[in-house]
Amino acid sequence: MNITVKKINSLNGEIEIPSDKSITHRAFLFSALTKGKCTITNFSRGEDCLSTLKIIEQLGCNIKHINPKKIIIDAQNALKAPSIPLNCGNSGTTTRLISGILAGQNFNSKLFGDESLSKRPMKRVIAPLELMGANFLHNDFKLPIEIKGTKLKGINYISPLASAQVKSCILLAGLNADGVTSFTEPYKSRNHTELMFKYMGADIKEEGNKVIVRKSQLNPVDITVNGDISSAAFFITAALIVPNSDIIIRNVGINETRTGILDVYKAMNADIEIINERIISNEKTADIRVKFSNLKSTVIEGDIIPRLIDEIPVIAVAATQAQGTTIIKNAQDLRNKEADRITAIKTELNKLGADIDETQDGLIIKGKTQLTGDCVCECYHDHRIAMSEYVAGLICHNPIKINEFQWVNISFPEFLNLFENIKQ
Ligand code: S3P
Repeated sequence: MNITVKKINSLNGEIEIPSDKSITHRAFLFSALTKGKCTITNFSRGEDCLSTLKIIEQLGCNIKHINPKKIIIDAQNALKAPSIPLNCGNSGTTTRLISGILAGQNFNSKLFGDESLSKRPMKRVIAPLELMGANFLHNDFKLPIEIKGTKLKGINYISPLASAQVKSCILLAGLNADGVTSFTEPYKSRNHTELMFKYMGADIKEEGNKVIVRKSQLNPVDITVNGDISSAAFFITAALIVPNSDIIIRNVGINETRTGILDVYKAMNADIEIINERIISNEKTADIRVKFSNLKSTVIEGDIIPRLIDEIPVIAVAATQAQGTTIIKNAQDLRNKEADRITAIKTELNKLGADIDETQDGLIIKGKTQLTGDCVCECYHDHRIAMSEYVAGLICHNPIKINEFQWVNISFPEFLNLFENIKQ
């Protein structure tokens, strides 16, 4: 699907943001490990999460669709050997988390994915799982991989990367491994696994950046998934840079390990207000009011990076409208996402008239620039690059075209409709 995006006058009104992708993956996978039924309400219907749902069905779970927002997952006591290879689609989270579950089963399985996922590094999970005794067959640590299920033993793993996917993989393996498993990361990455494990009664403890888990059984629970701040990020950014905007975004997850974008925008002089804070299924949630703001530049580096890793492409869009030079450092893992997001966002925003350079681990963005547009953007098989380009298109002097915009469906099928509701 190719689309055209035109300059708009303002964004005004209220929207409810769709549910969190990271939490939905975990709700599906962890339900599959219980010995009972879990009801999941307000789950993400993005293609990535549907890949996870399909996989747990192929592993023997019974899925009952109550309505478009509610399902019951009946784990039927234990996972069963899948009869066919499991398709992870475009989803790194599915691949990394399910690897931690499958490595310790008493059956074998195979994982594969699409072209983009097949290029992404899996050594980050295969290496620590092998230390736990896991058996893999792979070609240069890339998909497709075969997993020969076996009994695992606990390890104390010091991770060179701050990664919630790696952490969750090892904690999931640890749930089913003999003894104690610990995972220590250099900075705290998103902690949805820790919170949901606690909610489901696992034996888990946190000591700073270290998480310790012992072999334990997850209890069946009902989970309501809150809205995804990574999806809200596109609306927050658009309202900040489109003059005269004033919007309210309802039901946004504000777990501290995800709110780096709010801290950065506040440092950039953004008018953002958090209202109506509450807790939903052990996760902090709120409504967010955002108004157009005169942004100034900032430096983004160090321990904030894992707290906003998925938002960097759209933060780069905001930085083109900030007075001064914004510098983003220590974000080298952005090159290992659905696309090399450092090169992709630099290339595409420069086409629109921005002034961006890339470094090995980040970006240097000079603002404020009037984006000219009048060009054709590519999505690189990457939903977040596609949506960032759309936001930039809203302030370009001339219309822009975006090719293959269907990549948005990976996380946010409702994206265009929600924008239409608040565009003036
Ligand atoms: C995710 C963790 C992050 C993030 C991804 C989702 C998760 O990846 O980029 O979109 O749900 O655990 P890393 O853990 O590889 O940084």
